[in-house]
Amino acid sequence: MSDAGREALAIVLAAGEGTRMRSRTPKVLHRIAGRSMLGHALATIAEAGIGRVAVVVGPGHDAVAAEARAISPGAEIFVQQERLGTGHAVMAARAAVTGDVGEVLIIYADTPFVSVETLRGMRATVAEGAAVVGVGFEAKDPTGYGRFLMKDRRLTAIREHRDATDAERKVTLCNAGLMAFRGRDLPDLLDSLTDTNDQKQFYLTDAAEIAHAKGLVVNAITCGEDEVLGVNDRAQLAAAEAVMQQRLREKVMREGATLIAPDTVFLSFDTKIGQDVMIEPHVVFGPGVVVENDVVIHSFSHLEGAHVGRGASIGPFGRLRPGAKLGEKSRIGNFVEVKNADIGAGAKANHLAYIGDASVGAESNIGAGAVFCNYDGVNKHHTEVGAGAFIGTNVTLVAPVKVGDGAFVAAGSTITRNVPDDALAIGRGRQEMREGWAAARRQRYPAKKKDH
Ligand code: UD1
Ligand code: MG
Repeated sequence: MSDAGREALAIVLAAGEGTRMRSRTPKVLHRIAGRSMLGHALATIAEAGIGRVAVVVGPGHDAVAAEARAISPGAEIFVQQERLGTGHAVMAARAAVTGDVGEVLIIYADTPFVSVETLRGMRATVAEGAAVVGVGFEAKDPTGYGRFLMKDRRLTAIREHRDATDAERKVTLCNAGLMAFRGRDLPDLLDSLTDTNDQKQFYLTDAAEIAHAKGLVVNAITCGEDEVLGVNDRAQLAAAEAVMQQRLREKVMREGATLIAPDTVFLSFDTKIGQDVMIEPHVVFGPGVVVENDVVIHSFSHLEGAHVGRGASIGPFGRLRPGAKLGEKSRIGNFVEVKNADIGAGAKANHLAYIGDASVGAESNIGAGAVFCNYDGVNKHHTEVGAGAFIGTNVTLVAPVKVGDGAFVAAGSTITRNVPDDALAIGRGRQEMREGWAAARRQRYPAKKKDH
């Protein structure tokens, strides 16, 4: 079989201990912009068109395996029982390197900023004849990184900082960690790795020197230092979050959204925002939000798993929870929470309401303090409000219940039975009046008590 037409394989190293995170959660499951670091790596791999994925996890890291499968259902999972180096980690996934594999890309799960272009560059360099490809970057401070030793534009070795001579330490072209191999050469190279170094580990990086000595082509490509930003502790996690947020904000602004104070708007990896959307300061987007054109999101709103139709308006202090679907030009005002509910075009809930598990027809009005009572302590039930209906102030709609098109529910009503189209429903205690009662009371208690 020729190399062309073979499949590419990505081996993702996710067996890191992450002790400096001080967390019960494995490091690569910590999230940046709403997605785990592992998820970011797998998404970039998929975007680069790499169809086969193997993930190397640490012993007992079932949650890491589950996340890998959730994002890349076909991912093969391998367990590295002992942590004996990057080469050892790749050996754990050796069974994934079958005869039909073309290029093998090694990717660390804790470097979430690797670009699709770099992965494509690695593949292309193997396709052009390299057996091994290293990815280098010019490090501002090279301390701790492996150094690229180059000769005649070939990579002759990658020397780990701790094993390098003083002269080698002067090299600033550093190893990003990513490597690519021609699949048919990788098994032999793995067999040739030894642990005769300062850390007594099997270094994947040694494969460069071994391949070069065998007369194979070993090339280097480069990437930006920003791509190799790694996460080892919570401070670096926050730094990575800041970089990711900056990228996401720039992206939505380039696509036509106005962010008055971009630094105060937090986006998720998958936030989709249309053109001429105005986002006021202090708005948070959890995962799964789509905002169509011409929407206004006022300050202090929180959106998650929601679809916002064209021209709608949210907040200030609006809360959209998963399954909220706002129709065109609908309005969700201050202190209104919407969960798993379709709000029809032009419908309004301007103040202080909870709309859960419901559908609200077009042009309906949900008054201040209206609550959709969707939960009976055991199950959730659905409420349907027809088109053009009017739900008065402080109404409670006890689900399951239906309010018909054009119906009018009086303020303060508790509605437990369906309301027909165009009907008036009043479900509240009748007001009683006693003429003169207040005046008589004042007669009985003429003076105000002191010290109250
Ligand atoms: C590695 C490189 C170094 C490079 C640097 C870039 C080697 C020998 N060194 O060093 O040249 O400049 O990355 O950041 O490769 N891992 C496992 N199992 C192991 C060991 C590591 O899965 O037994 C994973 C880690 O979780 C991590 C990655 O491999 O994602 C790199 O390991 P790490 O220990 O951070 O290597 P460095 O010493 O940083
Ligand atoms: Mg490292």
